[in-house]
Amino acid sequence: MSVSKTLCKLEEVPDGGATAVQVDSSSGGFSLILLRRGERVFAYHNECPHAGRRLDWAPGRFLIEAGSLICAAHGAMFSIESGRCHAGPCLGAGLVAVRVDVADGEVRLP
Ligand code: FES
Repeated sequence: MSVSKTLCKLEEVPDGGATAVQVDSSSGGFSLILLRRGERVFAYHNECPHAGRRLDWAPGRFLIEAGSLICAAHGAMFSIESGRCHAGPCLGAGLVAVRVDVADGEVRLP
């Protein structure tokens, strides 16, 4: 039997944009960044490898420019598809990816 967990509806993630969802867990939970490209969704922990800050400038609001996700704290730029930092203070580091599935119009943890 599947134990997948629904995070949100696909339509709640703006196409070409991003949102954040809170994942509850017994250890207090964590925030996930969901980035959407059409029917594909990329997910990363909402914690910057530079100084450990959230990347959003307000809850669920992210800076995205020219195919990059930009940390609102100090401007590190990350590839949306790989999470790799290609400019800024944590150059070469990366966001921690989380696998998510898109099925039946929902974004789910497998
Ligand atoms: S915490 Fe993200 S660039 Fe500094």
